[in-house]
Amino acid sequence: MGYSVIIPAAGVGKRMKHHRNKLFIELQGQSILERTLNIFETHSLCDEIIIAVNKQDIHDIEQLRAQYTKIKPLVEGGVERQHSIYHALKHIENDIVMVHDAARPFVIHEQINMLYQSVVEGQHAVLGVRAKDTIKIVDEHKIIKSTLDRNSIYHIQTPQAFTKKVLTKAYDDAFSKGILGTDDASLVEQSGIAVAIIEGSDTNIKITTPIDIQLGELILQNMVK
Ligand code: C5P
Repeated sequence: MGYSVIIPAAGVGKRMKHHRNKLFIELQGQSILERTLNIFETHSLCDEIIIAVNKQDIHDIEQLRAQYTKIKPLVEGGVERQHSIYHALKHIENDIVMVHDAARPFVIHEQINMLYQSVVEGQHAVLGVRAKDTIKIVDEHKIIKSTLDRNSIYHIQTPQAFTKKVLTKAYDDAFSKGILGTDDASLVEQSGIAVAIIEGSDTNIKITTPIDIQLGELILQNMVK
């Protein structure tokens, strides 16, 4: 038994202020998207990769697809990440599914293995790192309303790993109730199903703003050492 991975890649990357999808930006000569795909193409437990793409990127990603063996026919993305994943979910064949943002090119196989093992043992799981800063809730004028207990706060990353059955039901429920979440676990949580956190890594960043490109270069330099 292995797993399917859904890779949402259909964002526009507004916060990067780049002229096209940020996933085509190169880090040390290879695009963010290729780096992410390589991680799963080379992971022995990964059986298939389903990518949700923008209409304007189909041609380029189709060309890329020819260099890989695990990528299934491309799926059209949607207005929000959640829509992109919902489209992709209808195409997966495995009973275990991971969702991993195309914009996170530095996740390592060891952490994917831990997520996989957790689902095999019956526990849905996501990667996360402990909050380092103090987190506060504010009102509309940015006046602080309360301070959260940092010890119980995690920043959540991807991959996020579930059984296909649970993730599909969570997405069906979310769409029928009009719930929009910023990650997959939040939808599964809403179905009343427990999701565990597996310790992620500070290097598993999501390339979002221009500074992340510089951080990414730095991470790569240290990874190859
Ligand atoms: O914009 P952000 O980096 O938070 O998006 C997370 C991931 O979701 C990215 O890999 C992006 O390409 C993807 N996405 C998508 N469809 C959307 C919006 C974002 O596949 N409509």
